[in-house]
Amino acid sequence: MKPAAQHVVDLKNQYFIPCLYHFYQEPPVIVKGAMQYLYDNDGKQYTDFYAGVTVMNCGHCNPEIIEPAIEQIRTLQHTTTIYLTNPTVELGRKLVEYLDCELKKLFFVNSGSEANEGAILLSRLYTGKRGIIAVNGGLHGRTDLTMNATGIEMWRTDPDETLPIHFVPKPHCAQCELNLSPDSCNMACLNAVENLLQCETDIAAMIIEPIQGNGGIIVPPDDYFIRLKTILAQHNVLLILDEVQTGLGRTGTTYRFKSLGIEPDILTTAKALGNGFPIAAFCTTNKIAEIYRKPGASTTGGNAVSATAALAVIDYHEKHQLAAQAAARGKYLRAKLVELQHEFSFVAEVRGAGLMLGMELMADGQPLTTATDQILEIMKDRGFLIGKTGVNRNILTFLPPLIITQADIDAMLEALSFALNTLKKQSNN
Ligand SMILES: Cc1ncc(COP(=O)(O)O)c(C=O)c1O
Repeated sequence: MKPAAQHVVDLKNQYFIPCLYHFYQEPPVIVKGAMQYLYDNDGKQYTDFYAGVTVMNCGHCNPEIIEPAIEQIRTLQHTTTIYLTNPTVELGRKLVEYLDCELKKLFFVNSGSEANEGAILLSRLYTGKRGIIAVNGGLHGRTDLTMNATGIEMWRTDPDETLPIHFVPKPHCAQCELNLSPDSCNMACLNAVENLLQCETDIAAMIIEPIQGNGGIIVPPDDYFIRLKTILAQHNVLLILDEVQTGLGRTGTTYRFKSLGIEPDILTTAKALGNGFPIAAFCTTNKIAEIYRKPGASTTGGNAVSATAALAVIDYHEKHQLAAQAAARGKYLRAKLVELQHEFSFVAEVRGAGLMLGMELMADGQPLTTATDQILEIMKDRGFLIGKTGVNRNILTFLPPLIITQADIDAMLEALSFALNTLKKQSNN
């Protein structure tokens, strides 16, 4: 490891709680960002295909976003929700307009975990019930409550249940947990939800990501959400859609629910909303919002600076049509990844939507976890930061800023082809 990186690792080891880990055996120290590029302390450029986990959708240090935020810092930085300020309420209006549906009321917080906590609280207040349904392989946060609703072993640090929580099978047809085939299963994973609701009455909501991010870029089959919403509504159970990763253009529409044929009862959004400034929200209908009347507050949630940045983010999305760009570039990238799948037998599946794409590596039915790390390392050495995800950490992820160019994608694909070939040669030896 280079001395500068070793210094940072030593400081981390000395002062940080050991759970905080990092990618790479030879990690770079990132010192600068400019749109789709990051730079390390040796001046080496990396094209970012991870976007800080789908946060930097508008690119790093984008002047159209940071300049208004810097101006806001100079003018008024923070007051808290008990004082009236313009940026926060303007953002409320703007986000409701951008959502463009029946979700007309919202509450700003700082992180995705906090937004999901708020959503769960609201569902319990509204329904007067306590239990929550969540999906195997889902991830909803790092707080105790949201970790409880997380269906991935490695991210459930506290295995004890603070929530009355019920997990249902994940809707992943290619690797069905129920060992069924999509042609004949009649969505048995949804029957599991229905069966549960027939025996269990104390359930307030089901929380689900429209595409599982940490679970491995799992895209439910068409019509899954239409049927799910009907089942939940029949039992007066709310649908909380966790759009923390999928929001703000990532999957090729402003929010993923726009392509699902449903509207959720509560939606959570975070990450890309602030493009690096901490801001998140839970959003709901006028009717559900009515129940939440006991005083609520957030010290820094929706503060003037983050709200100004988020306003600039939504403006930027609209001005540059980022959702449409994600759809077009994503289509191209996906087609090229599928070509690689045909070339390399250990590429088991390519999946996702827009610029939220995953490539699963498997051999003889086993996840190639170590090889996935190797690919990440080779890609980094060649100047590309890609991600990894999944229950077995064997899915390469491609989540670039949505302003990525076709030339950037082509260059990344060349490096990826090299990395996959390296792996192939190793497995032949
Ligand atoms: C789908 C989803 N929900 C919630 C969270 C938690 O968000 P945060 O880390 O901002 O608390 C994450 C984080 O990765 C996420 O991917």
